[in-house]
Amino acid sequence: MEEHSFDLVVIGAGPGGYVAAIRAAQLGLKVACIEKENALGGTCLRVGCIPSKALLEASHHYSDAQNKLSGFGIMTGGVSLDLEVMMQHKNTTVSTLTKGIAGLFRKNKVSHYQGLGTIQAADKVAVTDASGSQTVLQTKKILIATGSSSAPLRGVEEDGDFVGSSTEALSYPEVPKHLVVIGAGVIGLELGSVWARLGAKVTVLEYLDRILPGMDSEIAQEALRIFKKQGIEFQLGSKVTSARRDGDKCVVECDGKDPIECDRVLLSVGRIPHTQGLGLENVGITTDERGRIPVGEHLETAVAGIYAIGDVIAGPMLAHKAEEEGVACVEHIVTGYGHVNYNVIPGIVYTEPEIASVGKTEEELKKAGIEYKKGSFPLAANGRARAIGKADGRVKILADAQTDRILGVHILASHAGDLIAEAVAAMEFGASSEDLARTCHGHPTMSEALKEAALAVDGRALHI
Ligand code: NAI
Repeated sequence: MEEHSFDLVVIGAGPGGYVAAIRAAQLGLKVACIEKENALGGTCLRVGCIPSKALLEASHHYSDAQNKLSGFGIMTGGVSLDLEVMMQHKNTTVSTLTKGIAGLFRKNKVSHYQGLGTIQAADKVAVTDASGSQTVLQTKKILIATGSSSAPLRGVEEDGDFVGSSTEALSYPEVPKHLVVIGAGVIGLELGSVWARLGAKVTVLEYLDRILPGMDSEIAQEALRIFKKQGIEFQLGSKVTSARRDGDKCVVECDGKDPIECDRVLLSVGRIPHTQGLGLENVGITTDERGRIPVGEHLETAVAGIYAIGDVIAGPMLAHKAEEEGVACVEHIVTGYGHVNYNVIPGIVYTEPEIASVGKTEEELKKAGIEYKKGSFPLAANGRARAIGKADGRVKILADAQTDRILGVHILASHAGDLIAEAVAAMEFGASSEDLARTCHGHPTMSEALKEAALAVDGRALHI
């Protein structure tokens, strides 16, 4: 059996793992990164963030061509869809980016091992490839970055085709006539939007009486109204009890309601940490009640020298959170310093309009008994938003009632995902709402809505 020796072995080449591997190599460590899939990049690049954004963009153009361009005086005649070309655009985007990571590994001298990584001891990781042959890596430290997989739901019989997860919904061979989405979370709304724009009837079944639990509820309510106007049907308060394929149709059942017949079912009720086959039991690492690996302050597990980051530990399951943790973890290993500011991790839903959020929601502040001031500004009063025909939504800023420090920013707007970056930077620097309000913003830009919302915190917005 071959032996290979490293300072750090990273298991998983998603945004957490591959970024940690690169940073560790930059810092002078001899690094190996193990990935079981053929392509690098993890769920995010292969079957998550990136392909979904390619389809969201493409389907948005299609919908605009059908419904919006004529309002700008652009007459297109008949608009038709070539789903195969749309999927090719998505696939090319993914393969270009995954190859890019392989290039970055070569550039930074990160050794890439393809296969399933299993921890044998605190200093040994085995890699088993598809043919079953095994390589044992000797290492000083181990970083677990194995991500998550789609959570199953009791009664839902996934067949990896008609009844499936986001992975299947990124590659349907044709536009379903009727798509039922289980769960009005991030995935359900993003992929529901894609297929609704491409012509599917989309019904979203959500257990709670609201969409996007965890996000600011006022913003979520306004978003719900907009999504309904876009033609997506919502059945809130629906507890799905079963879903299965029935011939070339599917049947979905909810507590106390008539069964729904449809063409495809997307199950999107959350994700679970991926720790199967990892060999945690070989080193005595146990998981919590949600299958997550407990870690200490510097992302070290209960076993010295073994670390974990991203979706396998607590916190939001977001690529950029995993990345931050990966960098902080390896920087701490090498330099003794490394830190993640969990108070300012943005969350973005890439619907149209987008929903972006950082810091505390109003509900969280109320629950914590923190007194706050609120400034809100509608995009309808922003000149640029009007000019580009994207005047739906608002910016909402929450600031501490005593100190004026910004505690949370919530944006429902086209390009909210880009607009939130200003709020994240401001909060990272500990800005007050007055700081933001006194910052000169280019005109005419959507970002002026942030300045106006900051002005509104003190009741001095100029355009409402
Ligand atoms: P989610 O946790 O965002 O939403 C799941 C929804 O399903 C919730 O609203 C929940 O109430 C509902 N639900 C649960 N059981 C149900 C039942 N029996 N019947 C009906 N509804 C039920 O989960 P989602 O959308 O699957 O996303 C998984 C993870 O992936 C999230 O943590 C998210 O942060 C991440 N993600 C992030 C993206 C982004 O940042 N843009 C994009 C896609 C995923």
